[in-house]
Amino acid sequence: MNDFILDDIGALLKDAVDASEDVIKRNIELPKVKEHGDFAFPAFFLAKIMRMPPPKIAQEILSKIEDLLPFGSIESAEVAGPYLNLKISPQILSKKLLAEIFDQGQKFSSSDEGRGRNLTIDLSSPNIAKPFHVGHLRSTVVGSCLYRLFEKLGYNCIGINHLGDWGTQFGKLIVAYKKFGTEKLFEKEPIFALLDLYIRFHKEAKDDSSLEDQARGEFKKLERGDPEATEIWKTFYQYSLEEYKRIYGILNATIDEYTGESFYNDKMEDALKLLEQKRLTQISQDALIVDLEEYGLGAALLKKSDEATLYLTRDLAAILYRKETFDFAKMLYVVGSAQALHFKQLFKIVELLGFNWHESCHHVEFGWIKFGKEMMSTREGNIVFLNDVINRAKELAKEIILEKNPDIEDVDKAALYIGVGAVIYADLAVRRNHDINFSWEDALNFDGNTGPYLQYTHARLASLERKFGKEIISDIDFSLLKEPEEKQLMLTLYRFPQKLKLAAEEYEPAVICGYLYELSQNLNSFYQKHRVITDDTTLTNARMLLMRCVRIVMSEGLKILGLEPMERM
Ligand code: ARG
Repeated sequence: MNDFILDDIGALLKDAVDASEDVIKRNIELPKVKEHGDFAFPAFFLAKIMRMPPPKIAQEILSKIEDLLPFGSIESAEVAGPYLNLKISPQILSKKLLAEIFDQGQKFSSSDEGRGRNLTIDLSSPNIAKPFHVGHLRSTVVGSCLYRLFEKLGYNCIGINHLGDWGTQFGKLIVAYKKFGTEKLFEKEPIFALLDLYIRFHKEAKDDSSLEDQARGEFKKLERGDPEATEIWKTFYQYSLEEYKRIYGILNATIDEYTGESFYNDKMEDALKLLEQKRLTQISQDALIVDLEEYGLGAALLKKSDEATLYLTRDLAAILYRKETFDFAKMLYVVGSAQALHFKQLFKIVELLGFNWHESCHHVEFGWIKFGKEMMSTREGNIVFLNDVINRAKELAKEIILEKNPDIEDVDKAALYIGVGAVIYADLAVRRNHDINFSWEDALNFDGNTGPYLQYTHARLASLERKFGKEIISDIDFSLLKEPEEKQLMLTLYRFPQKLKLAAEEYEPAVICGYLYELSQNLNSFYQKHRVITDDTTLTNARMLLMRCVRIVMSEGLKILGLEPMERM
């Protein structure tokens, strides 16, 4: 994307400031007070170099550039304290920006930064044989959003579902299945039948201590590839996946590979051998560990005394396999912050193995999500199932829509898009490191910082175009878009590509949410003062072009988040 304003500022200031154009551009800010200007150049960082107080530097720069103004897209400049504030010409802004957005359409703000580079994203990764619960929702929606964002930046993304499909709990399930399973077990909701089996196992194991041993035995069999155990495990796997895939369709999840923990069953030995060759492992209390004490990371456990491998062992095999298979430029693990130590240990081991690519691996962590009083965690015992959340979202959205627009076509489809949009947005709009207190009322508020509000903004723009009913053209009189609200909209549109970049740098979907909300608010301020379709055809054409550009950006932003840009609602 062409940063023409920043380029103009750089070119204008470069001879007046003791800094390179790049440094100048990097220091440009938005003024604290809008009336002061559209962009601000702070003089603080030059104080040391120029040995002058910042306000004086700002004055000096102004005196050097005054004669050059207007310059490109920069209309005027003035000093406020230590800042040089710059105003942009709405006419040049509209001419350059709107034509670009209109011509590029959905491609606007794409870049080729990531061209030819693979980016793997480990996302969702629920533990099979259990219903999909809200604990994996955030990973699914944040991971999918990052996937689409990086794709927009030109990366070739690979979404990997590291399913929790291996470990002693499957031994337990196999025991329970053999003991308590019936013919009809999977006739209705198989995934709940599996959950029941699991719960039943734990109940019975309280009175019968031999069950735990049997479970370990069954898992050993599974690890060795015993046909009967494998067959039963496969049934669990297939029923689980069927249900998950249905949910992924609803959530717009971006999953390319279902290579869960079981996939690494035969790859762990090689990984462990590599560690042994580098003399990184040792035996401690009969267990195989990597001592990471000197890095403040404790002991990384790779094999228990009974030879059983662990979650970390599988992640180690997985990271090596993924590097070899995808030669990723970046590898993101979208997993809750509770696993921070796990990933620190994993990346440290990769570093100790002598690989230099450990720095391209990132744990994209996030906080808890609370639904009312209930924590979304299996450990707490009160699990909230995603399916219930989706159904509730649909129901509530349907009520609201019917109230607002009783004639809407296909209300169930709209309710699904809006209800699910509300849940996804509530998850993405909170910065990752914060916990979420989910409330239905907040998420479905059509007037707040919510998914439905943004979808509604889009639907209004779509309805405006239907009402206009003619072709939107880019050959307009740009000098007509001169109202402050129009200029504000354009300045916000201009920042879309930069915001996407920032969101990618910080792995932070909330940046995009905040941006789209601001754009919606700008649009509202505009609607409050101005009408788009009037008797004045030239003005109407100009404003329709602006509205189309807002719609393009809104639609693109919503799609990256995973929300349906609604045509009507
Ligand atoms: N299944 C794990 C859990 O539910 C998450 C897996 C995350 N990915 C990974 N490569 N460890 O906690």
